[in-house]
Amino acid sequence: MTRPERRRLAWGLTGSGHFLRECLELARELRDVDFFLTKAAEEVLHMYGHRVEGLREGFRVFRDTTASAAPVGLFYHGHYHTVIVAPATSNTVAKCVAGISDTLVTNIFAQAGKVRVPSIVFACDTAPEMQTESPKEWVTVYPRPVDLEATARLKAFPSVSVVETLDQLRDAIRQRMAELDAQPDAVVSEPAAE
Ligand SMILES: Cc1cc2nc3c(=O)[nH]c(=O)nc-3n(C[C@H](O)[C@H](O)[C@H](O)COP(=O)(O)O)c2cc1C
Repeated sequence: MTRPERRRLAWGLTGSGHFLRECLELARELRDVDFFLTKAAEEVLHMYGHRVEGLREGFRVFRDTTASAAPVGLFYHGHYHTVIVAPATSNTVAKCVAGISDTLVTNIFAQAGKVRVPSIVFACDTAPEMQTESPKEWVTVYPRPVDLEATARLKAFPSVSVVETLDQLRDAIRQRMAELDAQPDAVVSEPAAE
């Protein structure tokens, strides 16, 4: 039996430690969030002291276990109003820009574009020199021109907002939620998480 509910927010987690804890805290402030993990995200979450099982307390969690990215079928049936990818690795951003969909997160990003669901991407690589948190300490990294170019190119995608800071991510989410509040919401069936 299916239970009617509101459309949900699809949140892609990639294998990045960049403001990972803060992104998880932000997601906890929102309602109706489903997490979609890459394989690297699962490993990196663990390295930063988070458990996938822990995420299941409060969220539906889809893991990257199928070649076809089976959960993306939910996008065809209007289950999601928005995709957030936060934090987004340089790998995932480069693939999104190139139109490659070979992970669960690159697939939800691509499918969102194809069914005209807006996306918000919190890119890790935004400046030639940055501070980021490794599992043990803060470190300096130097994103390459190819990484910065991919972030810049993603900004030109239709219906994609690329944000570079946590404050910008919060603002973009707030703005999207306000847009949705002004729209009547669709009623859809409940998806099964893996
Ligand atoms: C502890 C740890 C932290 C990482 N943080 C980042 C990061 O902040 N940004 C990034 O681009 N890659 C980071 N990586 C590397 C990615 O996990 C790696 O490129 C992976 O292949 C990305 O796969 P995905 O984009 O499918 O999640 C990190 C790796 C480890 C082990």
